[in-house]
Amino acid sequence: APRTFFVGGNFKMNGSQESMKKIVGALNENKLNVGQVETVIFPQNLYLIPTREQVRKDIGVGAQNVHDKKNGAYTGENSAESLIDAGINYTLTGHSERRTIFKESDELVADKTQFAIEQGLTVVACIGETLAEREANDTIKVVVRQLNALADKVNNWSKVVVAYEPVWAIGTGKTATPAQAQEVHAEIRKWAAQRLGAQVAEGLRIIYGGSVNGGNCKEFLQFPDVDGFLVGGASLKPEFHNIVNKW
Ligand code: G3H
Repeated sequence: APRTFFVGGNFKMNGSQESMKKIVGALNENKLNVGQVETVIFPQNLYLIPTREQVRKDIGVGAQNVHDKKNGAYTGENSAESLIDAGINYTLTGHSERRTIFKESDELVADKTQFAIEQGLTVVACIGETLAEREANDTIKVVVRQLNALADKVNNWSKVVVAYEPVWAIGTGKTATPAQAQEVHAEIRKWAAQRLGAQVAEGLRIIYGGSVNGGNCKEFLQFPDVDGFLVGGASLKPEFHNIVNKW
């Protein structure tokens, strides 16, 4: 594929100083295919700086969320500026847990994405349908609505990785079948070609997330529009290395 594979490890609200040391130590000691696979871990905010200081330089470190405005009176939020200041070059936006639990709208996710890009971050923007939406045959409609909201704001798609994560597959042990993922990824690329142009579409990384693990990841590899993974639960375990090394 003309695109560099991307594997993200989203630790979510997990980890301790001790467990982070172990994870980072294992990443540093093991043979990892990071030369060929852009590999980025997303720890909790409190662990970002020590992780960046301790983990090997060819692994990226990112935040799980970021505010959509510059520094100021926004108690409890984290600024893109502070991330850049600390050498944290990536962020997630629009994770389904942010959208559902924290009520983030398509528009807010788009604002965060664009602002983060302006500040110099690379953004993994997450989209995906709920089970009810899939069962109502609305998957593509939902995904396209989320993408259009992004496209209304985002002006530099070379700084975006799209993560397709069907909500019903997240943390449930139930992955989309590789063919189901490919079908949606192909639609996303088709959308990108129409809305953003052929060149952007060809270069856009579209990664899959939802119960990916060391065992099932290889089944996705034969599908041309799956450009990597966003891994939750398994990213805290040694099998994360197998996922990175699958390519
Ligand atoms: O960001 C990662 C996704 O939410 C997937 O999580 O691998 O635990 O299902 P999971």
